[in-house]
Amino acid sequence: MSQRTLVLLKPDAVRRGLIGEIVGRIERKAGWTISALELRALDRETLEQHYAEHVGRPFYEPLLEFMTSGPAVVMVVEGERVIEGVRALAGPTDPIAAAPGSIRGDFGTIVRENLIHASDSEESAEREMKIFFPSHS
Ligand code: TYD
Ligand code: MG
Repeated sequence: MSQRTLVLLKPDAVRRGLIGEIVGRIERKAGWTISALELRALDRETLEQHYAEHVGRPFYEPLLEFMTSGPAVVMVVEGERVIEGVRALAGPTDPIAAAPGSIRGDFGTIVRENLIHASDSEESAEREMKIFFPSHS
């Protein structure tokens, strides 16, 4: 089942020089293809749409502050079961709970600075790809 997913390498990943490491892990999965990739400063309006489900949570404002603290990598990845697959490569939200071998488990300690975002469902992927790549379909 070929799918597409929206992936962000967050500003901490870019600052720490981990773009190649993380993109490499995604790229090496059999049959997955990167179909869009851009280094981009994210604006608040875009992030408000992206993180709409979290409005009002205590971490929301600090999260937006962090996400606008430097450029991010915005990607679309396509391939077999890629939605579940990138979430599995990333590991759980809390990097300390994430297993070594996962991206968050290998490189993260702070929940907010957990390196990577990946869409959590087909519906989220469609919604998020429209937010970050409005001119594609
Ligand atoms: P969430 O959608 O729950 O996690 P995921 O990125 O794994 O889908 O939360 C979105 C982001 O918000 C998460 O990646 C990091 C941040 N966040 C916090 O800073 N504190 C928190 O307690 C939670 C739950 C998330
Ligand atoms: Mg989420």
